[in-house]
Amino acid sequence: MDASKSADARAEALLEASTQHQKYRWLVEQPAVSPTRTDWQPGRPGEAPVVYPVQVECTPTIVYTDGPEAVRAPGVTDFPAQIALASTWNLELAYEKGVAQADESFAKRRNVILAPGIGNGRTPLAGRTPEYFGEDPLVNGLFAGAHAEGIEADGKVLSDLKHYLANEQELDRQTSSSNISERALRELYSLPYEIAVDEGSPESVMCAFNQVNGVYICESPIMQSLLKDDHGFDGFIMSDFGSVHSTTASLMNGLDQELNRPIWFTPEKLDAALAAGEITQERIDEAAFRVVRSYIRGGLFDNPLPAEAAVEASTPAHEATAKRIAEDGSVLLKNDGVLPLEAEAGQTIALFGPTASTTPTTVGSFPVSAVSVCSLTLQRNPTAAPRNTLPCEDVVSAETAITARAAEDGASVTWNNGQDIAAAAAQAAEADIAIVFGYQRMGEFSDLTDLRLQGNGDALITAVQAANPNTVVVLQTGSAVEMPWLDGVEAVLENWYGGEQQGPAIASLLFGDVAPSGKLPMTFPKSLADTPTNTPEQYPGVFSDGSTTRPAGSNEIRQVEYSEDLAIGYKWYQEEGIEPLFAFGHGLTYTTFAYDRVQVTPKSTNGAKEIRIQFKVTNTGDRTGTEIAQAYVTLPDSADAPGSRLVGWESVTLEPGEHRNVTITLSADELAEQHLLEHWDEGADDWVSAKGTYGVAVGGSSEAPIATQFTIK
Ligand code: GLC
Repeated sequence: MDASKSADARAEALLEASTQHQKYRWLVEQPAVSPTRTDWQPGRPGEAPVVYPVQVECTPTIVYTDGPEAVRAPGVTDFPAQIALASTWNLELAYEKGVAQADESFAKRRNVILAPGIGNGRTPLAGRTPEYFGEDPLVNGLFAGAHAEGIEADGKVLSDLKHYLANEQELDRQTSSSNISERALRELYSLPYEIAVDEGSPESVMCAFNQVNGVYICESPIMQSLLKDDHGFDGFIMSDFGSVHSTTASLMNGLDQELNRPIWFTPEKLDAALAAGEITQERIDEAAFRVVRSYIRGGLFDNPLPAEAAVEASTPAHEATAKRIAEDGSVLLKNDGVLPLEAEAGQTIALFGPTASTTPTTVGSFPVSAVSVCSLTLQRNPTAAPRNTLPCEDVVSAETAITARAAEDGASVTWNNGQDIAAAAAQAAEADIAIVFGYQRMGEFSDLTDLRLQGNGDALITAVQAANPNTVVVLQTGSAVEMPWLDGVEAVLENWYGGEQQGPAIASLLFGDVAPSGKLPMTFPKSLADTPTNTPEQYPGVFSDGSTTRPAGSNEIRQVEYSEDLAIGYKWYQEEGIEPLFAFGHGLTYTTFAYDRVQVTPKSTNGAKEIRIQFKVTNTGDRTGTEIAQAYVTLPDSADAPGSRLVGWESVTLEPGEHRNVTITLSADELAEQHLLEHWDEGADDWVSAKGTYGVAVGGSSEAPIATQFTIK
């Protein structure tokens, strides 16, 4: 406990003073389980309740908590979903959220947050899409790094990158194998972890439920060879809840800690495996060392949890951060001029749809309202009751906020839950402006079966826009949605799951008090059929009989072929020449921008030296606006890389008519650590910079044209 010594020295000293079983303590999350506990899952191995020895005296209480979007407890700030945070393209905001979330976690007596999550978005049907940062590995890695860094900044709470790796669907997540090429593993699925480890040095990583290439990732050599050795991760690897399938294979391949109650890392099993020579004392000591060193290095030993959990852990500053994320994370997809609203005295603004109000509407057997799209804590799969119905008790609905804002202009607001479509159309016909809220509930435990709005949203929008030419759609979804009604509406604003401040954020954006600036971190396809995983083998994966349906009573591993390889997201649509509905990186505001004078220096390089991409951006409209200018590179054909790849971005705020020369710098460190210009050469078994000409595109989305090039000799 001598804080003047290094974390390594302190961890060594603690373990030297520990018995064998006290070392085992650190190999499980929960040290002791009451023998009277009755909620054991029947049939799970090792169900007999296990009681560990108490921890070494004076070592702290360690409490884990979910989740990426917010601390899973009442009395906290319900931040918007992570997909909204990614849509801000603002890494400082991710850091700021991490700091706020850790503050609330600690106040709630929890000092390890199981967040952030990283996904790769190979299919927008994946149930946990809203928990992640979209389809690009650089965006995922940088955001996860910034969020993790913020969580750990105050030295009281640890972060946890999850779920390592290629846990890209909920269907059969525990009984499926993600079959991936080495190149895709390196360039897509492991790259975000490599970047996040460099950027945010998280103290822990959670290995996922699924198999990768036929081996459960929590007992796969990949944990040691790729994450620990190659990426230099020196924290500890914990499992997911129930993702461990062995004592020896998992421990000896790099798993350091079993999450939740001990099943495989019990004293009996570890003692037996050691006695049988299957596991080594060295590996036991290393696992315990990694865990304890991270707890110490992360500050948990020097900042014991408060005696009591605070009832209310949220603060006005945290709520302001939540509102900022909801505002800057909303994406204006379409605007034919109806926005920003200029309501006039006597006008009527008619709102439609259950998620515009906190008044619940029963849809099927579910109450749907603004609360149920507040944050992921309520985004359980639509077919099962919300697992933890934690009310987002502080949510301010769009109805409340728009009513207050419209009153400032003397306009009135009505709300109709949209269940009776004919009545909604009649009400829309009487209004000056119609705003329809469409939603898509999703979350852990199940995938979407389509990309359509739920609750008859398409029919409601179609009826309202037929009755009122000034129809605006506000989307509260966790992933992409198809929009059969798009041509008939004037504007579309994607608010995702906007958290407890969704109402004020939506009102501010619609009335132009805040100009939208968000950009899509994932492609919105015209149709599900256009997505890259459009064969049964790719999604949902098949069984040995070729079917996608699990044979009754079978626990056969579902084989999911990642045959799209690198071509996911915008890379796929570019490579295939498929026009998306809205492209990765797309997002409008209330002015327009022009780009020109794009240049790169140097024009010829060895691929390791700093590269500067310079260009001029002009605000060509009549309102101040913020543009997230993005830079994409296309590799030489010899690299055999599909489409382009995002290499950086800069946020630029300009007054009407103002222009600015902007530089996106790819530093030597970033080029090396993020492999921005490299591709994985399976023959060389290494990263390689292909020789040849690299195209450079700069603009407001991934659809920006190539404007210049440079060569690597
Ligand atoms: C769940 C999730 C993981 C979560 C863990 C603990 O199964 O996969 O994200 O952190 O269990 O709740």
